[in-house]
Amino acid sequence: MKIFLSRDSASKALGSEEVAEAIKAEAKARGITVELVRTGSRGMIWLEPLVEIDTPEGRLAWGPMTPDAVHRLFDLPEDDPLALGPTEDLDWMRRQTRLTFARCGVIDPLDLAAYEAHGGLAGLRRALEMSGEAIIDEMKLSGLRGRGGAGFPTGIKWDTVRLARSDRKYIVCNADEGDSGTFADRMIMEGDPFSLIEGMAIAGIGTGANKGFVYLRSEYPDAIEVMREAVEIARAAGVLGPDVLGSGLAFDMEIRVGAGAYVCGEETSLLNSLEGKRGVVRAKPPLPALEGFLGKPTVVNNVISLATVPVIFEKGAEHFANFGLGRSRGTIPIQIAGNVARGGLFETAFGMPLGELVEDIAGGTASGRPVKAVQVGGPLGAYMSRDEFDTPFGYEEFDGQGGLIGHAGIVVFDETADMLGMARFAMEFCAVESCGKCTPCRIGAVRGVETIDRIAAGDPAAAPLLTDLCETMTSGSLCALGGFTPYPVMSALQKFPEDFAGRREAAE
Ligand code: NAI
Ligand code: SF4
Repeated sequence: MKIFLSRDSASKALGSEEVAEAIKAEAKARGITVELVRTGSRGMIWLEPLVEIDTPEGRLAWGPMTPDAVHRLFDLPEDDPLALGPTEDLDWMRRQTRLTFARCGVIDPLDLAAYEAHGGLAGLRRALEMSGEAIIDEMKLSGLRGRGGAGFPTGIKWDTVRLARSDRKYIVCNADEGDSGTFADRMIMEGDPFSLIEGMAIAGIGTGANKGFVYLRSEYPDAIEVMREAVEIARAAGVLGPDVLGSGLAFDMEIRVGAGAYVCGEETSLLNSLEGKRGVVRAKPPLPALEGFLGKPTVVNNVISLATVPVIFEKGAEHFANFGLGRSRGTIPIQIAGNVARGGLFETAFGMPLGELVEDIAGGTASGRPVKAVQVGGPLGAYMSRDEFDTPFGYEEFDGQGGLIGHAGIVVFDETADMLGMARFAMEFCAVESCGKCTPCRIGAVRGVETIDRIAAGDPAAAPLLTDLCETMTSGSLCALGGFTPYPVMSALQKFPEDFAGRREAAE
């Protein structure tokens, strides 16, 4: 009997270790040999711990499993309430296009042979036959844009590094996933770490860099452990090292752990931290692509951008580019969180309307009350109202609504949400996390909290002042932390004026 069970930290938090122990104990008691394969998560967090049983017809899903119910797995009654049927037939799975996350939840994350058997390393092998220029052309053709949030074309960034003249170049993976409601980076690192390693190796071969770093946040201990082990395995197998897969080309990498500052997810601050300095933002230019780590040309890409590279080379850039909408090509792993009936990771081609994601895929709110607002793109993303539910998920489409998709995390709030409180939280967050380098952010965020408190106290002069302050922060801040905090603040003020006016009237 072969059973699959996730070792993702979300699954562990929901009890997968206890379920694993119960499976082993039950098998022993029954004298049955069970092969228990620990995988990443399929992304259906409301069903975790999700157990899958291998059958000739495919895997059968059971969840959410509890240690007490494990014995039922061995009897396999078809009418059991925990029996969900074939995993691939579940609505959440059927409606996805899994390119980046194709292996996540399917294989043991540290089984390199299973990785290869499921298409892994085919992309790197193909890239090793290509010139640097051809690799960049393939990336440009794919249309992949930075999944960290800014959406800059990855091929163009790589080309800048490739064309820079230098004795040393670097690939730095930004794994400082700090946005609220986002977990795609963590899930892929815990569930399919070789895809990130392979993507970084292709980036290195394409740009002429032979050293890479993953800057991983300390809050992700499981991802750190899995990534470290995966690098060792890849090195031992010759995927990393002085002679990548016998090509004569070198690429190796290290995992470095951050110390827990949101601003270290900003690329220049991250580079300072990686160099052992204080995590303070550097002015751009110079771009990291020209003067990055230790002043050398450096590709700084998000985890998902790099982990998507192998499938682009495995299946071809055109295959990838055929998915999507407008200038948003390919698929995007959307992280659905907050007050939702079904939360988790849902990878789909760009273009699905926000309302479909929230009401249909996520099943509306967990509380059963109507949705009031959805924050898309992390703590610096705008609040979207129900009136904007027909907005297709795409960079330009969200930009057109005064929002951003950021790292594609969506957090749902029901009608009890206090939008003034949410606006205040955005300013407070910025004040706490500001690196302090520039005045509009360092001082503006503190004044922002005070100004919102004045609105709450009924001061009629405070709302125009808040608008002015947000304009100053937008145009005068050095990086996205101070520059984007006005998105949640102004969207809350403009789209939910009743939450601000109500306080004023009550005070008057
Ligand atoms: P940006 O627009 O300044 O730059 C985007 C990227 O393109 C950078 O790597 C930059 O160096 C590069 N670039 C720009 N012009 C280039 C050129 N000509 N050649 C080569 N490379 C070039 O945006 P930034 O400040 O890097 O990121 C802001 C975004 O980060 C926001 O949209 C926000 O959504 C996102 N964000 C993500 C978080 C997360 O946890 N993933 C947390 C906070 C913000
Ligand atoms: Fe630092 Fe804030 Fe200025 Fe960014 S906007 S450089 S975080 S002070």
